[in-house]
Amino acid sequence: MKVLIATEKPFSKVAVDGIKAVTDAAGYELALLEKYTEKAQLLDAVADADALIIRSDKVDAEVLDAAKNLKIVVRAGAGYDNIDLAAATAHNVVAMNTPGQNANSVAELVFGLLVYGVRNFFNGTSGTELLGKKLGILAFGNVGRNVARVAKGFGMEVMAYDAFCPAEVIEAAGVKAAKSQDELFETCDIVSLHIPATPETKQSINYDLVGKLKKGGILVNTARKEVIDEAGLIKLMEERTDLKYLTDIKPDADAEFTEKFAGRYFATPKKMGAQTAEANVNAGIAADG
Ligand code: 3PG
Repeated sequence: MKVLIATEKPFSKVAVDGIKAVTDAAGYELALLEKYTEKAQLLDAVADADALIIRSDKVDAEVLDAAKNLKIVVRAGAGYDNIDLAAATAHNVVAMNTPGQNANSVAELVFGLLVYGVRNFFNGTSGTELLGKKLGILAFGNVGRNVARVAKGFGMEVMAYDAFCPAEVIEAAGVKAAKSQDELFETCDIVSLHIPATPETKQSINYDLVGKLKKGGILVNTARKEVIDEAGLIKLMEERTDLKYLTDIKPDADAEFTEKFAGRYFATPKKMGAQTAEANVNAGIAADG
């Protein structure tokens, strides 16, 4: 039995060592393909793998065709939008994920981005504090709940909206439940996105919705770039010079955002949300289980 870890963005060494200890104990062979730059490298590496552990690495029909022995692919992380599920089913390959394992790591990054944003990207001018500000959390899953917990430590007022989570569950966590996405954006100073990329959510964060933010509003995205209507957000930020966009996932139009919105736009150079030793170990070991 051969397990392949294929991570364009590698796990920390401690996580890989932990995964190896599990596969060794089970008598499995472990192979590692890290920082690959060409899809061809992935196609070669999967040829004799029985199991595959990935992060945001794309597993499409071509990869599945090349992986003749593959029985299972595990997305070490929450969002499995990078796996073609229909193709996996057609190839008799089971797909799994490890929701929650990197949630705290992503949640902490939200506040790293926020402090950087409200302090004007550390440019030396006076910024604002988070204390007393209204934070809107869009989707109350594992990451959203961790964001709520940390936000309370900052003394923020926390509100959330989730199309699939009942208001009572949100309120039981000590968070005000918004009745709609619109209410969340209208009410809050800052909105943090924690929705998956699905046909319904793609480009749903658009000109009209973000335009509901109050003066000085901030949009934070540690979810997926696909949920943003980039053209709409650019148009809005041109008109509303008070708005900031902070993201952990570079938009396709990163160059345009960078050029047009200096001091109001920041994107991490590489997606950093789940890049902690703890998250790597949690997700990697869960994927190996
Ligand atoms: C997730 O869906 O779990 C996060 O977006 C982490 O993605 P990554 O493994 O590519 O860092």
